[in-house]
Amino acid sequence: MSNAQSWTHYWQQGHVESCIDNQSSDNNELKRAWQTFSALITPEACVVDLATGNGSVLKKLAEFKPHAEYVGVDYATVDPQWAINVKNVNFISDTSIDALPFSNESVDIVTSQFGFEYGMNANAIKELIRVLKPRGYFQLIIHHEQSEIVLPAKRRHHEIDLVLAPNSLVEAIERYLGGLIDAPALESTGKTFLEKNQSTLSQSISGQCFSVINKAVELQSNNDLSSAVQLVARLKDSLVKELARLSHLITVAQSEQKIDWLAEQLNKGQIKVEIAQLETNEQQILAWVVKGQKHE
Ligand SMILES: C[S@@+](CC[C@H](N)C(=O)[O-])C[C@H]1O[C@@H](n2cnc3c(N)ncnc32)[C@H](O)[C@@H]1O
Repeated sequence: MSNAQSWTHYWQQGHVESCIDNQSSDNNELKRAWQTFSALITPEACVVDLATGNGSVLKKLAEFKPHAEYVGVDYATVDPQWAINVKNVNFISDTSIDALPFSNESVDIVTSQFGFEYGMNANAIKELIRVLKPRGYFQLIIHHEQSEIVLPAKRRHHEIDLVLAPNSLVEAIERYLGGLIDAPALESTGKTFLEKNQSTLSQSISGQCFSVINKAVELQSNNDLSSAVQLVARLKDSLVKELARLSHLITVAQSEQKIDWLAEQLNKGQIKVEIAQLETNEQQILAWVVKGQKHE
């Protein structure tokens, strides 16, 4: 499955957010950042949100400034439910941010939240500069490699790696159900796993694995081997998908050096850039904020 297809699959499940829980206080910080930025949106402005997903940014902006024209672009196929009857919000699917379908200097405002960095390359930067009108504004909220989103993702990634490693939990239950090891060997793998990794384990990953293993053993002892095998296969599939999603997120998170590089490229394109860090209430890093205005 390509990256665009896996995002299509994700968005078609109806999510509006991807990196942050809709109810979390971090989402309030993001909302505040967009609310402040929305002061720059005039009623007749054309606003383009890059790598929009199901339009989390546009949903917020259209609430703050209901009269502007909003367009979301994504290389996944997106058609969010919330926007179906909203006339001034439209989505352009299956379209990469490095070849935007807008004419030169036609867009008043460009935005992106945890999206631009996924497709960031020299072309995407050129496209942002090309479509923005002189004096047009932009704001990009970008994953920070030390953020409260990326650091937990790194811990989750490490834990999933541990349970999927050769001879570890998932392989042990597969081998047990395949008749290749006996119950004491399965138990001993579980004990060793706990002893070695205790400090890094969470309920949502290792805890979930242990409960699937217990359930699979129970099903097998009730002569329902096929349900036990399916249960373990579903667990493995969801862990593998989660691992891929987390790897992607960790890879696109930006260091200070890379953000400086982005600012330099934008500066070369006649854009005045400011870089800041968005922080949580507890002064922990949430993201980079790269914003600015194109010269006349
Ligand atoms: C983490 S999600 C963020 C979505 C949305 N901005 C949000 O805040 O919920 C990243 C999005 O980037 C999109 N994406 C990644 N690379 C892209 C590219 N080259 N062109 C367009 N969209 C891209 C993905 O399809 C996905 O929807």
